[in-house]
Amino acid sequence: MKKRLVVGNWKMYVTDADQAREFALGLRKRVRGLTGIDVRIAPPFPFLAELADVFASSPVAVGAQALSPYADAPHTGDVSGEMLKSVGVSFAIVGHSERRLSPQAGISGETNDMVRVSLERAAASGLAPILCVGEREREADGEHFVFIEAQLSSALKNIPKSALRKLVIAYEPVWAIGKQASDAMKPADVREMLIFIRKVLADVLDRSTALKLPILYGGSVEPDNAPALLAEGGVSGFLVGHASTKLDDFLSILRSCR
Ligand code: PGA
Repeated sequence: MKKRLVVGNWKMYVTDADQAREFALGLRKRVRGLTGIDVRIAPPFPFLAELADVFASSPVAVGAQALSPYADAPHTGDVSGEMLKSVGVSFAIVGHSERRLSPQAGISGETNDMVRVSLERAAASGLAPILCVGEREREADGEHFVFIEAQLSSALKNIPKSALRKLVIAYEPVWAIGKQASDAMKPADVREMLIFIRKVLADVLDRSTALKLPILYGGSVEPDNAPALLAEGGVSGFLVGHASTKLDDFLSILRSCR
């Protein structure tokens, strides 16, 4: 059986370097007995180098929450895959819903094209991309399936094979993010969506890749719902937001993945 993968996405929850370091030291110590799980942490940019150092001789991998889609230098405020790689980062989250364009909310952000290019840039820099997809709302007429299909195919159609090698898909319904376990997607609905995602992947890529790619669920994963999501949802692991910044909760989610 393949290792489960659990990724902690700290967003802006961890606000200073001391807090980040303390959490990392605690996790490094307590994760020792937990074999058979692929554990990854995505802290905010300023803490990446420090955390890469703390986790250097541990099985925990450190990654970025985003990266620049641009390959050339004049882009103020951007951070490239090469820069991330040079400080010991090994993966990058790409296309998280909190960074994507959201015209309804009046927020300008990353377009599907930017997400695709970022994914290619991550892979070209030697970072393992975690591609996020997820609908803003569930529609009674099933329109959300069409939305997911469009996100996946615009990011992955004709993508270079090399970009697929370490790719992970994270399905995160936006309506379920940042709440609590009882508001998360129900395991049976997660399972249904995963089957749909594998079918789209088989159409856009090929059948054997579609069967192999790990698919994570994200959106209010907490200790309370993690076991059922694993057992009944059929996921390869989780992308965990708020609960990943509480050490006991995060460890409890990791334990349920053993
Ligand atoms: P959440 O965030 O666990 O706080 O819902 C998940 C995510 O957005 O990656």
